[in-house]
Amino acid sequence: MIRELEDACPDTAIVLGSGLGGVVESFGVEFEVPYTEVPGLTASTVPGHAGRLVLARHGGRPLLLAQGRRHLYEGLTAHEVTAGIRFMHGIGVRRVVLTNAAGAIRDSFEAGGLMMITDHLNLQGTTPLLGGAHFHDMSEVYSSTWRERLHQAAQQEGMKLHEGVYAALLGPQYETPAEIRMLRTLGADAVGMSTVPEAIQARALGMEVAGISMLTNWAAGLKPQTLHHAEVVEVGRAASGELARLLKAAL
Ligand code: HPA
Repeated sequence: MIRELEDACPDTAIVLGSGLGGVVESFGVEFEVPYTEVPGLTASTVPGHAGRLVLARHGGRPLLLAQGRRHLYEGLTAHEVTAGIRFMHGIGVRRVVLTNAAGAIRDSFEAGGLMMITDHLNLQGTTPLLGGAHFHDMSEVYSSTWRERLHQAAQQEGMKLHEGVYAALLGPQYETPAEIRMLRTLGADAVGMSTVPEAIQARALGMEVAGISMLTNWAAGLKPQTLHHAEVVEVGRAASGELARLLKAAL
């Protein structure tokens, strides 16, 4: 199966976050490989993350979809959670779209909306590059080419696409209202627990990176609410069609 993935030569991949695995249904699926069969990858322990690589075709071109990801809060190192990115790079993938579920911080956003990531705050206290001494430039992690492409796709589809800075925290607990106020002061527009290690790894490998957050909820303390993972997954699932439409138009 790995051989077939290599032979298909996909140059673009999409990593699907919490509840967003349904995006694959919008593409013509050719075959699937569970993470457990891919050297270096392991099954996800989080509900809402299927844990498989899917080879699909879009506009006649091969496309690799990673349904589910591993997180630092599962007790893994940043090197471990980015094994999928290195695998993709190894089989020739050079462009990657990282998607996630995130809490909305900026007032002008709305729960259920989409945010294109323009930059990030790495507040996870670690990096997949730990142990090396390569001082990679991170001044444009999320490529302007992708951003332009996504903008045009949203316009073409008549969709609203917010943009902003994604702050990554370790989790797995959600934030306190005080932490959200701190993040807002620091310039964060959305908050989550993933994506940043993968973005750093992909960038360090010279890949062209895009990031899209599905704003599944308002961040803690911004509305009278308590946060539940099941609701995050459900909102993500319900909005997967919108995300798929944007991605299809952008690819
Ligand atoms: N905080 C952190 N991670 C998240 C959130 C949130 O509010 N929503 C979805 N993932």
